[in-house]
Amino acid sequence: MVKIAFNSALAQKALGKDVLVNEKDPETASVYRHESSTGRCLLTLLGLAFILTGLIVGGACVYRYFTPKKLYHGAMHFTEMDNEDIREPYYLPRIDEEVEIRDNVAIINIPSPHFSNGDPAYILHDFQQKLTAYLDLTLHTCFIIPLNTSVVMPPQDLLDLFMQLMSGSYKTYLVHEDLVVTERIDDVDELGFYIGRLCDGKETYRMQRRSEISGIQKRSAEDCFTIRHFENKFVTSTKICKA
Ligand SMILES: *[C@@H]1O[C@H](CO)[C@@H](O)[C@H](O)[C@H]1NC(C)=O
Repeated sequence: MVKIAFNSALAQKALGKDVLVNEKDPETASVYRHESSTGRCLLTLLGLAFILTGLIVGGACVYRYFTPKKLYHGAMHFTEMDNEDIREPYYLPRIDEEVEIRDNVAIINIPSPHFSNGDPAYILHDFQQKLTAYLDLTLHTCFIIPLNTSVVMPPQDLLDLFMQLMSGSYKTYLVHEDLVVTERIDDVDELGFYIGRLCDGKETYRMQRRSEISGIQKRSAEDCFTIRHFENKFVTSTKICKA
């Protein structure tokens, strides 16, 4: 609407000018009118191209960073022990997960488990930084440990696993893992963009496998909790203790 009004005003102005010039020299007048309208047209097109480019680039950025990525849902039933007797129980404990893959990062959402214990959590595996972060949603606390690539499947394999899980129920076994909090991390920015964003504003601690720690281990007075999850073809029960 604005454009039309603008054009008609200009047209009237140009018309008035033309009438005056026309009487003197019709040829120059027509050339003048032709050139100026071509210039205006090009400028308008250029402006529109700029606006369009801006919209497209802006839209792409908004899409890239602000729309939710595709989440893949998967569930595994598991037996507490490898050598559980053959008799089928009425139900097996089950872990549900949703995974999202972006860049070189797998973000796993674990809701409160049904028929099993364990805290709801986010687990982020950053293959670029080679770190894993557990955000315990009950404690609102982050726990960081080096990424264990012999347990965590790379992003593409993890997606393939979730594709497989969608096509039917999956029965597997449980593996225990024992981790101990070592030190507090004050600056989460040093942990890379994704973990930095996940753990921003939360208490954050570094962890180690218990088997790697030498010295006195006062197990009795410890404050421990468990997160049960999978990022391979078995379920891991991660016990985290604040020493
Ligand atoms: C990775 O996990 C496996 C199984 O829990 C364990 O045996 C191994 O020591 C871990 N590797 C590292 C580097 O922590």
